[in-house]
Amino acid sequence: MHKESPIGVFDSGVGGLSVAREIFRQLPQERIIYFGDTAHVPYGSRSIEELTLFGDQISEFLMAKGVKAIVVACNTSSSVSLDHLLEKYPSIPFIGVIEPGITAALEVTKNSKIGVIATQATINSEAHKKLLLTRKPDIEVYTMACPKFVPLVEKGETEGPEAKKAALEYLTPFKEAGIDTLILGCTHYPFLIDVIREVIGPEVNIVDPALETVRQTKELLQKNQGLRDENNSNNEYFVSGNPESFLVTAKKFMGDALQEVKKATL
Ligand code: DGL
Repeated sequence: MHKESPIGVFDSGVGGLSVAREIFRQLPQERIIYFGDTAHVPYGSRSIEELTLFGDQISEFLMAKGVKAIVVACNTSSSVSLDHLLEKYPSIPFIGVIEPGITAALEVTKNSKIGVIATQATINSEAHKKLLLTRKPDIEVYTMACPKFVPLVEKGETEGPEAKKAALEYLTPFKEAGIDTLILGCTHYPFLIDVIREVIGPEVNIVDPALETVRQTKELLQKNQGLRDENNSNNEYFVSGNPESFLVTAKKFMGDALQEVKKATL
């Protein structure tokens, strides 16, 4: 592993930026190459075959750019194709977001009732549920697909009546179930944190898997002597769809440090 190489990060769109900002917080010296597959967003309604193909193409794109590791900053891709990626490209480490979310949730739950919100494809895969039950067989898992959230976040509409209405629809059953911990099982959702917090109430732990994902990434780089020494802010952002609309939403979440988005064809 070349320590000066960048870290690859990918998602269907702007969601992975919630993981990117955590990389900047925990690993400020690192450089990232971000890929948002906006030509294919939302991933939540895609088939396993499509998701596997997109994951391969994006990983090959990032590897051709010389990344030292790839963070699959998308729960949908992590739940459907992480194992496949690890097997197909053994020369590069991949870090997914499902297992870190589970680890973080199990650390904080007191009543062992955990809610998971995610895309339809992630919920269908039962990735969270299976791993939670493997780690702690007496856990009660409540899941909900939230298809209205991703389009709102892609538009940068993270507050207002539509977001609130969707949050009420999706989160009310969790309140009735008495969960004490909610996993944000889609990287777009941390951008809706205010409305999610308002609806779920102050007593529920909200788990953003990005924190543990980046902690594990740091550990992995450290183990491989792969942490950058020099400070650097030279990050690159690529999308498969329209760079301008991505830039508008991305700036809203990341500020003016994000100046340029390039179009990439896979
Ligand atoms: N942000 C992604 C996830 O974590 C994908 C959302 C989507 O495109 O539906 O699952």
